[in-house]
Amino acid sequence: MEILRKPEEMTAWSKRAAREGKTIGFVPTMGALHEGHMSLIRRARKENDVVVVSIFVNPTQFGPGEDYDRYPRCFEKDAKMCEAERVDAVFHPAAEDMYPEDHRTFVEVCELSNRLCGISRPGHFRGVTTVVAKLFGIVRPDRAYFGMKDAQQLVIIERMNRDLCMGVQIVRCETVREPDGLAMSSRNTYLSAAERKQALAISRALKECEARFDAGERKTMPLLKVMGDILAREPDIEVDYIAVADPITLDDISTIENEALAAIAVYIGKTRLIDNVTLRPKKG
Ligand code: PAJ
Repeated sequence: MEILRKPEEMTAWSKRAAREGKTIGFVPTMGALHEGHMSLIRRARKENDVVVVSIFVNPTQFGPGEDYDRYPRCFEKDAKMCEAERVDAVFHPAAEDMYPEDHRTFVEVCELSNRLCGISRPGHFRGVTTVVAKLFGIVRPDRAYFGMKDAQQLVIIERMNRDLCMGVQIVRCETVREPDGLAMSSRNTYLSAAERKQALAISRALKECEARFDAGERKTMPLLKVMGDILAREPDIEVDYIAVADPITLDDISTIENEALAAIAVYIGKTRLIDNVTLRPKKG
């Protein structure tokens, strides 16, 4: 497995692979890898000739006062995990090489970036789309793998890829959960044992929402209420938002016609956690 730190080395590596007729699967991450990330990597391994994983804690997607400085960084361990899954190349650039002093270009997907998480994290998705656009330019993948855990991010990246004709096949991957239901996240390491227990209310609320939807509920008010009631029982949970939104526009909806995205963001102490489920009618 190669470890590449300079963007131009990464691009040269990818161009060589492409010249040899190999398809490139790409998994962008910020490291602190867990089973959620590994599921994306394994899928990329199955579907492509070569697999590239990027590990880069992207400063432009963190707001002032957010956890950029304390975000977990454990490159040696991450690299070993990649190697064990037969990743071909890990791209691990320095922030100065991704954002030199005279960097002036940002990518913004309008409207979609100002909904849901975009309200409490202004500028966050602009940072995400900018770095993903740069990574696509550097790595030049055929396919790129993203988790539904970050559903809004995925929808926004799909739109950027389409609007800017980037030509990458974006592959949606299911959310991986702990056995008790908590969605895996690098940020779960911030939680104390007591907070970890309360965090379970997030997936419980989404499961209950899904159960009511499956039982025929199509009005979003009662779905929002049931989720709000479950979260309100936890003393250290502060709700950022609870939403049932259109899965394409991310607008709040009052009645679910076909599919919808039920999404939750909360603070537990200083830690911000998100999770979601797609509500879709069962076939047959
Ligand atoms: P990060 O949080 O490291 O996540 C990297 C990828 O792993 C994302 O596509 C995310 O949705 C996916 N992922 C995280 N937890 C998951 C889980 N429990 N199940 C399935 N997939 C999961 O998302 C980012 O990094 C950054 O914003 C990035 C896209 C790399 C840009 O900096």
